[in-house]
Amino acid sequence: MESILFLDAARARVVAEQFGTPVYVYDRATLERAAREVLAFPNAFGLTARFAMKALPSAAVLRLFHAAGLKFDASSGFEAERALRAGIPAGDIQITAQELPKNLKGLVEKGVRFTACSLHQLRTYAKLFPGSTLTVRINPGKGSGHSNRTNVGGPGSSFGIWHEQLDEVLAAAREYGVKITGMHTHIGSGGDPEVWKHCARISLGIVARLPEVTTLSLGGGFKVARVAGEKTANLQEIGNALLPDFRAFAEKYGRKLHIEVEPGTYLVANAGALVASVIDFVSTGAEGYDFLKLDTGMTDILRPSMYGAQHPMMLVPPAGAARPPQSYVVVGHCCESGDILTPGPGEPEALAPRELLRAEIGDLLVIGGAGAYCSSMPAKNYNSFPESPEVLLENDGTLRQIRRRQDPQTVTENEILIL
Ligand code: LLP
Repeated sequence: MESILFLDAARARVVAEQFGTPVYVYDRATLERAAREVLAFPNAFGLTARFAMKALPSAAVLRLFHAAGLKFDASSGFEAERALRAGIPAGDIQITAQELPKNLKGLVEKGVRFTACSLHQLRTYAKLFPGSTLTVRINPGKGSGHSNRTNVGGPGSSFGIWHEQLDEVLAAAREYGVKITGMHTHIGSGGDPEVWKHCARISLGIVARLPEVTTLSLGGGFKVARVAGEKTANLQEIGNALLPDFRAFAEKYGRKLHIEVEPGTYLVANAGALVASVIDFVSTGAEGYDFLKLDTGMTDILRPSMYGAQHPMMLVPPAGAARPPQSYVVVGHCCESGDILTPGPGEPEALAPRELLRAEIGDLLVIGGAGAYCSSMPAKNYNSFPESPEVLLENDGTLRQIRRRQDPQTVTENEILIL
């Protein structure tokens, strides 16, 4: 059984007592430390660090990161509006989205920056804002992810303009009189740091052919170890390895490129935990499994069922209870056989019993590594379960609620009764 980095058993009990379960807890100290690490990413000629807010877009977290010096990457017009609502200045928000925002014009007029992720997006933006500047997202031809589903570079990915279409990019810019001053890449999440560096070098080669580019965004994607055996990316090592390439580029082309990075996972993954309760047990006999059921599941944490992602787990019995170790397949509360919280690594369909402690109904189970793409990426309201609350653990140990539990009434509030 693993320990959860910032939440011990005693504090988990306090959280459950105060807010009920399931509930997400985020740790301010871990968030602030991660922000400092990202802001120290080595760079030859200047850095902008953005938070890929899709990973955890709660207003309190955005405000905390803004105070720490981060800017933001939004993955839709709605997400950009959400950042504005949280009080983030428009000039600190960039949109890198698969779908053109319906209110693109209004957002850009407020000062939000735009990354064109396809030729259609580029032409649409250029027609709306002739004479302006923008960034283009390029698929550099290669990618890497923690699973195939999170590899977003190469010919099998629809993200960004294919690197062999630069002539069309330049022609569109000329036709509409816009300047491409930024190039953006993001090649996947949780992939191989060697491939990341290789793609950064390929990107420099692409920037060489886009003569007005002065900023290169290398995206996010830095891996974070959530369980033993996984390895956290070393930002210092990755950034330092690229310094000579940026210096050589400046010598050769006379352009001192400003770089951007935009991690989501790295900034929040290990700053979050999900506190749940044990609600039931089912055993399928000697040839089967011992299942432990929780009052959470894919409605709060989808990553295990989607990617076979591994999250640490800590069983918390009542204070003073001594329990021997015991293994369970941990499952969620949804009527869905895929709602498995202990799948095989990278194998969402495999059942992998996890050693915990012998559990009883009413015990708590804390799931770690739940800061990134958990509260923001749930199978929301499936089986009509309401969205869970979020709590911030402050540096002085106090717990502040930053999102309320969804009122079950609101699950159906947009429905219209007929007949
Ligand atoms: N920039 C862009 C344009 C992106 O699409 C993403 C993630 C990021 C930055 C941040 O990537 P990160 O640093 O978090 O790896 N839901 C998955 C990951 C897919 C994220 C999609 N885009 C997960 O739970 O691992």
